Amino acid sequence: MCEAEPHIRTSCAVLEDMKIVIAGATGSLGTEVVDAVRAAGHESVPISRDSAADLISGSGLVTALRGASAVIDASATSSTSAKRSIGFFTTVTRNLLAAEREAGVPHHVAISVIGAAKLNANYYAGKAAQEAILHATSGGWSLLRTTQFHEFVEQLVAHGKVGPFQAVPRMRSQPIAAAEVAAELVAIASGEPQGLTPELAGPQEERMGDLVRRYLAATARRRPVVELSIPGAWGRGMRDGSLLPKAGTRLGRQTFDEWLSARTS
Ligand SMILES: NC(=O)c1ccc[n+]([C@@H]2O[C@H](COP(=O)([O-])OP(=O)(O)OC[C@H]3O[C@@H](n4cnc5c(N)ncnc54)[C@H](OP(=O)(O)O)[C@@H]3O)[C@@H](O)[C@H]2O)c1
Repeated sequence: MCEAEPHIRTSCAVLEDMKIVIAGATGSLGTEVVDAVRAAGHESVPISRDSAADLISGSGLVTALRGASAVIDASATSSTSAKRSIGFFTTVTRNLLAAEREAGVPHHVAISVIGAAKLNANYYAGKAAQEAILHATSGGWSLLRTTQFHEFVEQLVAHGKVGPFQAVPRMRSQPIAAAEVAAELVAIASGEPQGLTPELAGPQEERMGDLVRRYLAATARRRPVVELSIPGAWGRGMRDGSLLPKAGTRLGRQTFDEWLSARTS
């Protein structure tokens, strides 16, 4: 694992033959994490809404977690409401941490978004609350912050069709492939808990509207893209570069266009 991703790993203390639980295993990131866990030679235990373990009620979690060395939380809500996002991420994080304690799982690995905790609005209010719970927990966790995934464009296209138009937030981003994030999360899960880990971003800055145009063209969908300035702190943060990595941040390798061409070939 460390040799396979030398450009983004700085240190690595790998434990072999681990059982790793993946919460949100059916999502954009979760599916890549399941593959990365298997590729690393570990056993994967996927949790999603249709599994016997419930992230919201907590039922079945302790049973699912028994014998695991780590839990990677790749679950998410699609809600942009601050209240719903806080509700989702705090409930899931608390339930997972409690189940990990009871089942004796020593490592909780979480993912957040670069800039989200500072913006602390709408969806990002949930990420800020999730981060705050971890910071208040004494040990046993690692947290990786990344930029948007290339797959975020697919999520925008799936949810942003308004009549004949494709609505896209006016947004600066330096997106990264979810597969590279997944490999990093598995490498983190394979080592000791680190608390906040070095951030990870994609190789180049892009404009979200341009990415959506390129995605629609590559998937033979013709509709005009309308860039919208989202009101409030959330939208301002998207536009003003608050979600971009700081100078010196570790960068992934695959560009959006390389990802898109692999996705559509
Ligand atoms: N997308 C990005 O660009 C991006 C960038 C940086 C960080 N992140 C973070 O990465 C993580 C994963 O994001 P994603 O975009 O991969 O999410 P996603 O594609 O929306 O997947 C969400 C996952 O969570 C599961 N889930 C949702 N509600 C659930 C519930 N009530 N009970 C159990 N499972 C539930 C979904 O299961 P179902 O299949 O049953 O719906 C799915 O497996 C999140 O923490 C997100 O903040 C995302």
